[in-house]
Amino acid sequence: MRLSQSSLVFLLATGAVQALSFDNISSNIRRGADVAVSSVKSTVHNLFDRQASARKSTCPKIWSQIGSDLRQAFVSGGQCNDDARAAIRLVFHDCISGAGCDGSIILAKEYLRSENRGLEDIAVKVGNWAQQYNVGTADMIAFAAASGISACPGGPKINALVGRQDSYTPAPEGQIPSPKSSVTKLLSQFAARGFSATDMAALVGAHTAAKQFFAVPQKAGQPLDSTPGTWDTKFYSQTLDGSAPVSLDSDVKISRDDRTSAAFQRFQSQAAWAAAFVPAMNQMTTIGNSGQSLVDCTSSIKSASRGVAIRAAPLADRVREAEEQK
Ligand code: HEM
Repeated sequence: MRLSQSSLVFLLATGAVQALSFDNISSNIRRGADVAVSSVKSTVHNLFDRQASARKSTCPKIWSQIGSDLRQAFVSGGQCNDDARAAIRLVFHDCISGAGCDGSIILAKEYLRSENRGLEDIAVKVGNWAQQYNVGTADMIAFAAASGISACPGGPKINALVGRQDSYTPAPEGQIPSPKSSVTKLLSQFAARGFSATDMAALVGAHTAAKQFFAVPQKAGQPLDSTPGTWDTKFYSQTLDGSAPVSLDSDVKISRDDRTSAAFQRFQSQAAWAAAFVPAMNQMTTIGNSGQSLVDCTSSIKSASRGVAIRAAPLADRVREAEEQK
């Protein structure tokens, strides 16, 4: 049986009152009552103190509104759309370079660089949302990415933490992994941020929701697997067997390299991939901020299933969403 804090306080208080009435017959009733009352008071006080500190680390309400609005913005026809995929890529480019997830891709206008080509529209949109909702830009980028992933059917819930420090200082150029790089170079870029070869193989799986416009110009607009609107493992299987509409050179090399190919093969299982992707992505979205006391707003992320096929949503999600609507 679970008790709420208020019923616990009530039980404690009534228990103490009962104890007081038994004490009535004793000659030192006043002293006993004082002790009991002060002990109830201090219990109540402690509980309120704890509630207050719990409240301080509670997600600000605005994020629930943002979660609903982003679900609206990122789901089209029950699938994740172009803005959702761009938002997933945006957090990668903000976090992997410079001081980490600090909003500088928007605030220092890094999005205008050729290494960030294709991110201009989403950068402006996410920057405007941060202003409109009066929240941090780095937080808005990370929250949009988590919302983007959840907007794809099958997409896992990744942590949506807030409280990052924003920065207007541009990251050095040349730190964004290039599709033309060798696997050795890519591995060293990821290792510099604390990621293993397996982490890297799991993280590029985000290309399950990707289209490309500039890497292979003759196939501009084509997706990196046949189902860019859903979070499935076809990116892995189709990169391996060459049946994807288009594949990045880097993804093909990662799928074949001795250091990453076993993981790449293994991630054709959705469960194996999710188990590796979620912690790696949680690490990605806190680069440069892990020492900070971040607040958990994950429950404000709305999944693609909401309002479309709510019955198919996991029970925990449905309970959480019902709670949020109260
Ligand atoms: C080896 C590392 C990676 C390389 C070399 C790479 C490279 C690329 C390239 C070249 C594109 C297409 C850009 C264009 O031509 O329009 C792309 C798209 C994308 N990437 Fe990556 N990427 C890497 C890792 C990641 C990671 C770790 C994530 C996220 C966790 C990610 C998320 C995306 C998404 C969602 C898109 C699609 C964007 C859209 O459709 O607008 N990528 N990536």
